[in-house]
Amino acid sequence: NLKNIRIAIDGPASSGKSTVAKIIAKDFEIIYLDTGAMYRAATYVALSNGLDEADFAQTINILKENPISFGASSDGQLVYVGEVDVTEAIRQPDVTNAVSGMAAIPEIREYLVDVQRVIASHGGIVMDGRDIGTVVLPDAELKIFLVASVEERAERRFKENLQKGIETELTTLQFEITERDRKDSTRKISPLKQAADAILLDTTGIGIAEVVERIETYAKEL
Ligand code: CDP
Ligand code: CDP
Repeated sequence: NLKNIRIAIDGPASSGKSTVAKIIAKDFEIIYLDTGAMYRAATYVALSNGLDEADFAQTINILKENPISFGASSDGQLVYVGEVDVTEAIRQPDVTNAVSGMAAIPEIREYLVDVQRVIASHGGIVMDGRDIGTVVLPDAELKIFLVASVEERAERRFKENLQKGIETELTTLQFEITERDRKDSTRKISPLKQAADAILLDTTGIGIAEVVERIETYAKEL
């Protein structure tokens, strides 16, 4: 039953996870959970409270008082910390550059993974992140590992930024993506890694509609 399916989509930065996950959620009428947004929200809280990376673990106390939650808007998902809308703030470069440090802290992961499992406990969910298939939902019905060349991923971000009116250097984007992937794949706890039973999908040169189509076909074939 597609209404109860749990789909795990993992992969490196800018491989298209959230874009395709949102479309699949809509098509199958299931929940979409952006777990990266939760690590970003935690990082935003730490930075706005002036915490240094060495003190990032303290963020957990602030999050317990001001939980991360999600809301809907006409053009996508809203992210809140307590009552504060942090949707825009968590995509800023300072957060992007610090988030891998936050994501390497065991206590933070433990706390957020618990929250993620509660949200997924009724099934009917597509979740994207780095450790969904390996750690968060090891028994998900469908696991996808999305990849694309770093050149193409930087190009996609470049275009996305241009649409928002932000000029970025392609080489800078490539460097940032490579660096974040390196940190995410080499950390001790729950590193970015393809689950043994995940389907590898290389989306280099493949458009969004085609990627969605392939994943939905896998789901229907189950
Ligand atoms: O920029 P992009 O959309 O690719 O990243 P994201 O999905 O928003 O995730 C931001 C960061 O959160 C990642 O670089 C990881 O450090 C961390 N993350 C994680 O460790 N585990 C997850 N399940 C999701 C994100
Ligand atoms: O969530 P993740 O960081 O993996 O990537 P994303 O934010 O979904 O996708 C990054 C950018 O690539 C977005 O601007 C998408 O529209 C674009 N994209 C694409 O051009 N072709 C695809 N097959 C998938 C995503």
